[in-house]
Amino acid sequence: MSESQADVFDEKFGAFARWQASPWGRLRYTTAAANLTAHLPAGPLDILDVGGGNGLDALELAARGHHVTIADISEQSLAEARATAAHRGLNDRVTTRRASLDTLGDEFGRDNFDVLLCHKLIQYLPDPAGVIAALAEPLRTNGVLSVIAPNADADPLLTAVRGLDPDKALRMLDAPTRYSV
Ligand SMILES: C[S@@+](CC[C@H](N)C(=O)[O-])C[C@H]1O[C@@H](n2cnc3c(N)ncnc32)[C@H](O)[C@@H]1O
Repeated sequence: MSESQADVFDEKFGAFARWQASPWGRLRYTTAAANLTAHLPAGPLDILDVGGGNGLDALELAARGHHVTIADISEQSLAEARATAAHRGLNDRVTTRRASLDTLGDEFGRDNFDVLLCHKLIQYLPDPAGVIAALAEPLRTNGVLSVIAPNADADPLLTAVRGLDPDKALRMLDAPTRYSV
């Protein structure tokens, strides 16, 4: 794992944490927890959050009784996840591991987790299809894989709901090209 890769995310961590605390950010984590919970079998389950950052998704699942492992290349993010876990009294159900998606098989073996999360990471990586294959490795048969990433279907929805611009959202539905910044 390259230090510089983690540095890129660490430099942006403050802005990311501010977004997490904003109403849109809080809505994103609340919605993810509600959607996931609706699809999870009765626990406690073993859950691996790859690129889990400061753990907002994973810690919510730990609070619901599951055992979570947060894997990330950023020690800064993992330290914050541990601090929040301690603050919320979740230490006994939370493990953090400095690890990269590139070495998931070596780090976590095969068939060891019931649920695997990879939220807001694959859009930064050059080979999304390869990422999905790597994510499948530690997942048990019939396990649940949860991926969150920007996608073409979400753009009109965001424009209508967040941008409050329904006309532009309608035009985006039929646009042959999309732009990302
Ligand atoms: C935008 S943040 C998302 C954090 C968390 N999943 C969330 O949705 O709140 C992306 C995270 O992926 C981590 N990351 C980047 N490249 C990675 C890699 N190759 N393997 C594991 N984690 C990585 C970053 O350090 C960062 O914490």
